Amino acid sequence: MPTRAQAHRLLLLPLPLLLLTLPATGSDPVLCFTQYEESTGKCKGLLGGGVSTEDCCLNADYAFQEPGSKLCMACRLPQWSPWSEWAPCSVTCTEGSQLRHRRCIGWGGQCPEKVEPGTLQWQLQACEDKPCCPEMGGWSNWGPWASCSVTCSKGTRIRRRACDRPTPKCGGHCPGEAQESEACDTKQVCPTHGAWAAWGPWGPCSGTCHNGPKASEERRSRTCSAPEPSTQPPGNPCPGSSSEQRACTGLPPCPVAGGWGPWGAVSPCPVTCGLGQTQEQRTCDRPVPQHGGPFCVGDATRTHICNTAMHCPVNGEWELWGEWSTCIRRSIKHISCQEIPGQQTRSRLCKGRKFDGQRCRGEQQDIRHCYNIQRCPWKGSWSEWSTWGLCMPPCGPNPNRTRQRLCKATLPKFLPTVTMVEGQGEKNVTFWGKPSALCDVLQGQKVVVEEKRPCLHVSPCEEP
Ligand SMILES: *[C@@H]1O[C@H](CO)[C@@H](O)[C@H](O)[C@H]1NC(C)=O
Ligand SMILES: *[C@@H]1O[C@H](CO)[C@@H](O)[C@H](O)[C@H]1NC(C)=O
Repeated sequence: MPTRAQAHRLLLLPLPLLLLTLPATGSDPVLCFTQYEESTGKCKGLLGGGVSTEDCCLNADYAFQEPGSKLCMACRLPQWSPWSEWAPCSVTCTEGSQLRHRRCIGWGGQCPEKVEPGTLQWQLQACEDKPCCPEMGGWSNWGPWASCSVTCSKGTRIRRRACDRPTPKCGGHCPGEAQESEACDTKQVCPTHGAWAAWGPWGPCSGTCHNGPKASEERRSRTCSAPEPSTQPPGNPCPGSSSEQRACTGLPPCPVAGGWGPWGAVSPCPVTCGLGQTQEQRTCDRPVPQHGGPFCVGDATRTHICNTAMHCPVNGEWELWGEWSTCIRRSIKHISCQEIPGQQTRSRLCKGRKFDGQRCRGEQQDIRHCYNIQRCPWKGSWSEWSTWGLCMPPCGPNPNRTRQRLCKATLPKFLPTVTMVEGQGEKNVTFWGKPSALCDVLQGQKVVVEEKRPCLHVSPCEEP
């Protein structure tokens, strides 16, 4: 069949238009519709029949149909409908022709060139599907039979013939089949090829845990016995493997023993002078022990001595205070045994400071106010017994201990504080010196009475 595309490739042939005119309609009753569908040319929305065309077409959007007619007429002023599609080509080979048409649709006027409504207009064009018409061909004689389709038992064989006596023309063909077949018998027994029997059950697992150094697998096998391959003639063995294995499932994970990672970086020497200690660390994470495997054996830390080859600073330290100097007063020559405050000093040394160490903190010199009572011949009184002293000698023979009563001078009631400079507050005044106390003679002594006792049950001194 010619397609429209093919037809349009051909030249439109100029043909005279065929004009047909429908009989004029008076005011015979018609079917009246509310709509004329331009794309299909159909009346839509039936209002009813038995009205005159004039009445129906009081609305120009309406359409009407004469009773018994399929032609829908619009009430609007007449216009040509769109052209119809081209009809199929009149022949299937060599040149033919095809038609299309349009119609003057409307009421109360004429289409261009004074054509009455309802008139059909036609166009005809030449068309060609194929430049020639097909011609039948003729068969050659059958060729020889080909070999049987099987090499044992019964099969089929075929033979062919060619469509070339003569060869068909312009898309023609030969009637009938180019090939025929018939049964053939090789008179040979077929070999039986082997086929696998069903798999046997899975065997026991080769291990007890999963993810260990050895894979835990289970295995099953099958036999080439369903059927066994024949030997005469020889059948094919079964293809593939007679056994297979797979990882066991549901096993607990294998324990993984911990392993040390590499030693880390050496920590910096923690001191800036003298010797220090640096550290290296490693962690038990290559691998991390898992599933009950043992932790790494050995130390996670190792240390080294580091030497800065620098002396550390040595801070100075105070020695003990020296003796107080004699209590004097510059402006007054003799202040002894009088209520005249003087001044005295003592000092101490800062020793041992080296390598930029710190100086001693505090004063190197001490000053205080004092009353000089050295050798003042004042009346005294005997003290009570002192507590017993230590046994002397501690390791020698016959050690003794002693206690004393001393002749002590009664100190005068000098002011305990003075104000030397106005506004600097009160300063304590200390008695300095040892007065020459005068007591009544006690047990023939003037200064000290001593009592001595042997120490008893003395243990010998031994190397501890
Ligand atoms: C201890 O006193 C006794 C008795 O007075 C005396 O014989 C002895 O030598 C004294 N021991 C020492 C170490 O002075
Ligand atoms: C002065 O003496 C008083 C009483 O003995 C004492 O509490 C105070 O600390 C002394 N002041 C000084 C500066 O030595």
